[in-house]
Amino acid sequence: MTSRTGRHFLQIPGPTNVPDQVLRAMSAPTIDHRGPEFSALTLRLLDAIKPVFGTAGPVVIYPASGTGAWEAALVNTLSPGDRVLCFETGHFATLWRDMALSLGLEVDFVPGDWRHGTDPEAVAQRLAADHTHTVKAVCVVHNETSTGVTSRIAEIRRAIDASGHPALLLVDTISSLGSIDYRHDEWGVDVTVAGSQKGLMLPPGLSFNAVSRKALDASRTARLAKSFWDWQPV
Ligand SMILES: Cc1ncc(COP(=O)(O)O)c(C=O)c1O
Repeated sequence: MTSRTGRHFLQIPGPTNVPDQVLRAMSAPTIDHRGPEFSALTLRLLDAIKPVFGTAGPVVIYPASGTGAWEAALVNTLSPGDRVLCFETGHFATLWRDMALSLGLEVDFVPGDWRHGTDPEAVAQRLAADHTHTVKAVCVVHNETSTGVTSRIAEIRRAIDASGHPALLLVDTISSLGSIDYRHDEWGVDVTVAGSQKGLMLPPGLSFNAVSRKALDASRTARLAKSFWDWQPV
């Protein structure tokens, strides 16, 4: 058996290796999570993180893995029975579909071969056929970690706009943010879902939603989150 010295440098899509600078910062003494130092730090971070998403709008940070930010994106913008349009680009798109179903959403799941990203033309066709605008959101995985397939988000936005459809655009950037060019505002994304443990090279456990004005407006009438509070155990 060969002995191995030095640090094991595991190269997988994530969790990625965390730089020493970050690891050292994590060994600092705990600060009071209700004290002024923590709120000042949080406010600074909420501002400083915006360029990473390419947004001037708000970014929400969750103490959850990326899956928690998926859930937040759905429950804060949609209501029970709303229809969402998803595309089978791989494993994670399929899991996102399953979550939408388990939350009580209706899902149009466009089959795919796991070798191609979401086709903007297919988005345009589906939305053009939805005359009564029952589709409330289009969910796209920017980079399918399971296959390396990437979807062209700017073109998908143009397809939505060209069909004159008001659906929100929700994008999973869990393995793309920090690794592949991404522009929340310029590409007209409504909710960008991200996680800490891949391109951002942080430990797992934090996740993010960058939100557009339109998504904030949708959250005012969304009832999916509220329906959990109304739920009573039998
Ligand atoms: C594209 C994508 N979406 C969602 C997830 C789920 O994120 P998490 O494991 O942080 O909950 C992953 C994790 O690998 C992912 O790569």
